[in-house]
Order: sequence, then structure tokens, then C-alpha cells
Amino acid sequence: MTDWMNHKTVSPAYREICERGLTRNLEELEAYGLTVITPEQIGDPNLVERARRAVLRIAEERTGTAHDIETGSHGKLEGAGSNASQYLLYAFLEEDPVFEQIPVHEMTLPLVDYYLGPGCQLSSLTCFVKWQDDVGYGPGLGLHDDSGLYRTGPLPASPHVFNTNWILTDYTLDNGAFCIVPGSHKLRRHPRPGEGADKAVPVEAPAGSVLVFHGNVWHGAFPRKNPGLRLSVNAYYCGPHYRAQENFRGRIGEEIFDRNPPRLRQLLGYEDVWGFEDQRGPIPYSAR
Ligand SMILES: [Fe+2]
Repeated sequence: MTDWMNHKTVSPAYREICERGLTRNLEELEAYGLTVITPEQIGDPNLVERARRAVLRIAEERTGTAHDIETGSHGKLEGAGSNASQYLLYAFLEEDPVFEQIPVHEMTLPLVDYYLGPGCQLSSLTCFVKWQDDVGYGPGLGLHDDSGLYRTGPLPASPHVFNTNWILTDYTLDNGAFCIVPGSHKLRRHPRPGEGADKAVPVEAPAGSVLVFHGNVWHGAFPRKNPGLRLSVNAYYCGPHYRAQENFRGRIGEEIFDRNPPRLRQLLGYEDVWGFEDQRGPIPYSAR
């Protein structure tokens, strides 16, 4: 049966999953809609340390306030996802080489490829900065799926998006852990307001772990009861035939592509033939 891996009708990602010891993770994705890649599987403790330092630097530059993981000192930014307990950083991939490693990482990308296909794109790279707050998302825990583009009707059985959450500080219940309703990706629908909170479980994992989860799985987060900051970086992917959230094209220097595998260029939309433009910018449809 091992030869079946080379059969043209089998996803090439499956071979990589087997070679990298990720078959149990694939099994968990099927059953629960989420799996945790351990720091030992990632095998590079330096990566999380570099990412943490880079995030703290960017957070300070953009808010004008020094951030401290232990004391919880932080600034604030307005924008999508921001509330009284957190804010999001956007558009920082080109600001530190460590962020180039995350979307193409060999221990996460095969699982994403398996579901979205090898032509999938990076939809966005964001960072959640979350602090102590008794309320957080409130009793509903902010439960949602990431397939919001499908407003109505059943969600696709084969997901159009997939997400990875790179944990830069320990996730525990009182640290405001991410949570999911295990198996909810199989329901193929959005949760109703308030639905599912009684079935949500925290995903507790040490810094350096990566959560990989299915676009249809219901997820949210518990409020952070402890002092200090919770930091995570989300590499969010979409299928090749969907519009990415973040427009990377025109922003990423050639030196970044020179030092990375060619896959990064493709993930960031640089190989995408749609979106005609010339030196003046996008070309109106009528002029093509
Ligand atoms: Fe989400």
C-alpha cells in the first residue's frame, strides 16, 4: 500500500505527511477539526523566540508603547478584531525574516496542502495581542468558523480555508486559550449566536506549538484571567480560486524570495495570473 502514495490521483501532500511523521495529526484533523504540532515536532526553539521578539518590537513601533509578556504592559490599535481585551497586528510579513519561515514551514504546510491543494495561497498573516480581561469575547466565547465567505447554505465539505496558529506564549485556560468545539467541522454550518459554548474545550499547549485547524471548525477563545500577554501569529490560507485577505503583491522585495523556497512566491500570489495590471496599476476590464 505504500506505493499508493505515488499514484497520480493521491495528494502529493500525503507522502510528505507520512515522511514527516504527521499521520496522527492528519487523523486528528479529520476527527476533531484541529491538531497541535508540538514544539518537538517543529524542532526549532529558536524560531518561537525570534518570532516573539519581532512581534514585541513591531507592537511597540506601531503603538508607541513598550509591550511586556510578564507584566502585561501593552499599547492598543483600532481595527478589525480589536476589542477591550485584544488587538490585531496586520501586514508585517516583510518586517522580519522569521515571518518568512512560518507560511512555508515543512511541518504545517503539508497538512494545509492536503486539504486546500498545492496551489493554495496565504490569505493573511496576523498577530493577536491579548491581555488580562474578565470578559474577553463574553459567554459565547466568540465562536465562529473561518468559512464566513459562505453566508448561507451548507459549508463546503472540502474546506476553502485553513488556519495555523503559532503560539508564542503558553496557552492555558486562565491564559485565555484558544478553544474549539471538537468535530464541529463536520456539521458544515456556522454556529448560531451563543451556540456551542457549552461544548467548547480549551486548547492547552506550550509556547512553540502550532495549532492547525480546518476552516469549518467552530472556534473562539476564553478570556485571559492571568496577568501578562498572550501572543500568537496566524498564518491563514485559502484555496487558489479564492481572493486572499491580504494583498502581498508589490510589497515583498526580491531579496526575500531569493532566500526562501519558490513556494513562498506562489503562496503570496506572485504566480497568480489574475489581476491584470500595468505600470499605471490595475487595468479596467474594458481595456483588456
Ligand atoms: Fe477564526
